[in-house]
Amino acid sequence: MSNVPSITLNNGVVMPQLGFGVWQVPDDEATAAVTTALEAGYRSIDTATVYENEVGTGKALASTDIAREELFVTTKLWNSASETWTREAVLREFDASLERLGLDYVDLYLIHWPRAMREDYVTIYRTLVEIAGSGRAKAIGVSNFKQPQLERVIADTSFVPAVNQIELHPNFPQAELRAFHAEHGIATEAWSPLGQGRGLLEDPTLARVAAKHGKSPAQIVLRWHLQLGNVAIPKSVTPSRIKENIDVTGFELDADDLAAIAGLDTGTRLGPDPDEFDWS
Ligand SMILES: NC(=O)c1ccc[n+]([C@@H]2O[C@H](COP(=O)([O-])OP(=O)(O)OC[C@H]3O[C@@H](n4cnc5c(N)ncnc54)[C@H](OP(=O)(O)O)[C@@H]3O)[C@@H](O)[C@H]2O)c1
Repeated sequence: MSNVPSITLNNGVVMPQLGFGVWQVPDDEATAAVTTALEAGYRSIDTATVYENEVGTGKALASTDIAREELFVTTKLWNSASETWTREAVLREFDASLERLGLDYVDLYLIHWPRAMREDYVTIYRTLVEIAGSGRAKAIGVSNFKQPQLERVIADTSFVPAVNQIELHPNFPQAELRAFHAEHGIATEAWSPLGQGRGLLEDPTLARVAAKHGKSPAQIVLRWHLQLGNVAIPKSVTPSRIKENIDVTGFELDADDLAAIAGLDTGTRLGPDPDEFDWS
């Protein structure tokens, strides 16, 4: 077992601070990847309807002998632009995710994108609150929400999301949104925590900090997430990297390291700006 630290969400649910992301892992490879991750010590798995690998992920969860209550499974509603989202449609999609995963509950259910220009995210969010009430999601949250959408759902429902999963890495550290989350008791979960493994991991500053600690650049970046208080969900289909990415305890970045990494902020996203995202 690894020593992955945990955080306690605003409803008391405990969530590992490091999880395993499976975006872009084909369904027929997801079982092997998730099994390798579970064997390496990961207990939290991040999938989504749109990743089309809930079935393969579920097979790995079904075949492990790790108790269900030790696992933390996240999936996300693909609130596609092709329809206006009603309560019934959200419940239908949630049921379908549980069915594909082979589970009777998930630990965390997220709205994948706000698609704020469509206004139906409040209806969707209210339905997630209802799902949380039924116990079929231990916690609910959002993804890719900016402050105005967070303020809107909190004002309209008085139910604070447990998590906001957002693009976040040293090139795009999201200091303002993290501060808003901290003020409101929302956990910050970082997607593309390694900057999608391109560019960032070759940065000479990271190479220098990595050499100082005898770690890899990816381990330095993941350690940085943990010390900031983020949840991070690195993806890999490479067994050696899956193991490397969870081996990030037992050392500390000091103030000089953190200052050097702060200098990598370029303010640039790898993914779309949520204000513009409305793809099917
Ligand atoms: N909510 C959202 O809208 C959203 C959007 C994007 C992602 N996500 C979630 O966040 C997870 C992670 O994000 P991501 O997949 O975009 O990017 P990431 O985890 O930042 O990077 C993954 C890439 O880095 C490589 N990599 C992994 N570990 C490495 C290491 N130790 N050294 C060098 N390269 C390494 C991987 O290669 P190999 O696989 O070839 O080893 C892969 O190409 C996703 O899987 C998904 O669960 C959510």
